[in-house]
Amino acid sequence: MIAASLLVLSLLQLSFGRPAPASPRDFIGDILDHVAQMPMVIALNPNNKTGLVDTLMDISDPASPNYRKFLSKEEAASFMTPAPESVQAVTSWLAKYNVTPDVVSPAGDIMRIHVPIATANALLSANYSAFVQEGTGATAHKTDVYAIPEAVQPHLAFVYPTTQVAPAPRSRKTPVKPVAPPKRGKRTLSKRAVLPATCVDGISPTCVQALYNMPTAPATNPNNHIAVSGFLNEIPNLQDLNEFLFALRKDITGSIQPFSVDSIDGGVTDTQGPGTLEASLDIQYTVGLATNVPTTFVSVGPNNQDGVGGFLDIINFLLAQDSPPPVLTTSFSIPEGGIGPDVLENLCLAYAQLGTRGTSILFASGDGGVAGQDPLDTCPDDLFLPTFPSTCPYVTSVGSTEGVAPEVAGTFSAGGFSNIFPVPDYQSSAAQNYLNALNISSDNPLSGKFNTTGRAFPDVSTTGRDIAIIVNGTGQPVLGTSASTPIFASIVALVNEQLLNAGQPPLGFLNPLLYASGTAAVFNDIVVGNNPGCGTPGFPALPGWDPVTGLGTPDFLRLLSLVMPNSSTSTTNIGI
Ligand SMILES: *[C@@H]1O[C@H](CO)[C@@H](O)[C@H](O)[C@H]1NC(C)=O
Ligand SMILES: *[C@@H]1O[C@H](CO)[C@@H](O)[C@H](O)[C@H]1NC(C)=O
Ligand SMILES: *[C@@H]1O[C@H](CO)[C@@H](O)[C@H](O)[C@H]1NC(C)=O
Ligand SMILES: *[C@@H]1O[C@H](CO)[C@@H](O)[C@H](O)[C@H]1NC(C)=O
Ligand SMILES: *[C@@H]1O[C@H](CO)[C@@H](O)[C@H](O)[C@H]1NC(C)=O
Ligand SMILES: *[C@@H]1O[C@H](CO)[C@@H](O)[C@H](O)[C@H]1NC(C)=O
Repeated sequence: MIAASLLVLSLLQLSFGRPAPASPRDFIGDILDHVAQMPMVIALNPNNKTGLVDTLMDISDPASPNYRKFLSKEEAASFMTPAPESVQAVTSWLAKYNVTPDVVSPAGDIMRIHVPIATANALLSANYSAFVQEGTGATAHKTDVYAIPEAVQPHLAFVYPTTQVAPAPRSRKTPVKPVAPPKRGKRTLSKRAVLPATCVDGISPTCVQALYNMPTAPATNPNNHIAVSGFLNEIPNLQDLNEFLFALRKDITGSIQPFSVDSIDGGVTDTQGPGTLEASLDIQYTVGLATNVPTTFVSVGPNNQDGVGGFLDIINFLLAQDSPPPVLTTSFSIPEGGIGPDVLENLCLAYAQLGTRGTSILFASGDGGVAGQDPLDTCPDDLFLPTFPSTCPYVTSVGSTEGVAPEVAGTFSAGGFSNIFPVPDYQSSAAQNYLNALNISSDNPLSGKFNTTGRAFPDVSTTGRDIAIIVNGTGQPVLGTSASTPIFASIVALVNEQLLNAGQPPLGFLNPLLYASGTAAVFNDIVVGNNPGCGTPGFPALPGWDPVTGLGTPDFLRLLSLVMPNSSTSTTNIGI
């Protein structure tokens, strides 16, 4: 697209010479170090998962007297703590094979062991073998057969890996290819600040601020915080961020906080070396939009690197903190199919637990429309492919729009309905309204391709095409729901800023609030476009919630006045 390359050119002029990057990190070597010992997750049954979910729904319900009364680490963990006899049964089973587990969750329900393949085979009467995972080159293990001994069966939530192995988490944000201009259509409720003319060519932080009425003044609250997940050796470069701010946030005159890095599972930490695409995008659209909100890049390394190991470890890392970040944004996902529902349900409960601590958990919905992560994915039996964790009812899933005048559904925006998680109460009428409006008949190409009873996603969306970033000193536009997720995270963090300054708790788990207030109260309804995939046109965006753009794109001021009806907007500075 000519417009997009114009934006690249103007950014290029601002890039300057950079010393040659250090030799590439030897991450294959890192992985090989862990091959001899096969990592396994042993998850014990929690004692009160109903209590956990009921509590999360209660404290996330704006009508409840307990709204935003978040739990301490110990209170949250108490629901997931296994019964003493479960711990006893499992540890003595492992002890028979001279295996001592590491307890890796604060509740004690998640254990990890590193064992030779022969030991894993003995433990589970299995025949594990190692294989190299497609795409990442990482070593993974899989068995064709296994049996959980009777004595421990009632105590185990899941053992992982067994017959199914999750792929490494993926983010498919792509450099922009030329596309047809978005279709014209009417956008409702479009009382927005005047957009800079250049936003038609490409999206910068200034455009996002104008689109969603966001404040530009630096935040001040030291307790505010955003955590940004990184997997697959993704790392942002600090100099890229500085150039990005210099070029695209010219309004910032003083210095603002850069980001810090936490490393788990041997995650890379060098912010002076070459930057990678996803991490650069995620940091530039958090630090660059949630101005001066403390931001941490949590770098999850290859030690337990598949979609289950890495996803579990980062949540347990945050659950172990006394004050976990009020916002966690993740631009990676795995397909919902092809991995045991018991594993996904437990991972989903870990998100519920973090939600009770007060964290808004945001995940990108994927870039393949109804095909899930990637438009090139093949759809087994021609069925739509939902993405995880977006289908977990305890996270907020973020899809994409494109274009600014009007803003229409992103053709790539993944969305649909879970085959594992039933539709949650907070969403059931929104999803049902959509299904009614769709009035699918047998000759409709969507007929029979998705599960009408499942948790529907995404929940919300923001702009996600032609997003300007700087990587390795070079400006380039990218697209993806992985751009939309940090943008939405920044809006939540800026609302949290106002709440924290007023002595109130942050927003926490968002969905019950967002669905209860509905599209009109907070969102710009996106009613044009669709998300093709699996040889179909995908779902159409329709008035109200839809499985392409969710409830719509956010309006900071309206979201703020929803939670702080008497807030003064004098601290906000909508300056374009
Ligand atoms: C589970 O948690 C709920 C909510 O806190 C509580 O009312 C219930 O007593 C708990 N049940 C058990 C068995 O601990
Ligand atoms: C594992 O056992 C199954 C069933 O006995 C067999 O079909 C399969 O070939 C075995 N796989 C390996 C890697 O030994
Ligand atoms: C940044 O530079 C490194 C080293 O030259 C390279 O491996 C990497 O692909 C570059 N990243 C992007 C997004 O261009
Ligand atoms: C449809 O989703 C429900 C959960 O809402 C699940 O129990 C059921 O197995 C799913 N059906 C199929 C065919 O996947
Ligand atoms: C559903 O049917 C009604 C009445 O026939 C029609 O007006 C509407 O456009 C249809 N909706 C969709 C999404 O096709
Ligand atoms: C907002 O202000 C109105 C009028 O001053 C007052 O009645 C109401 O209680 C206030 N609401 C909150 C949440 O402070």
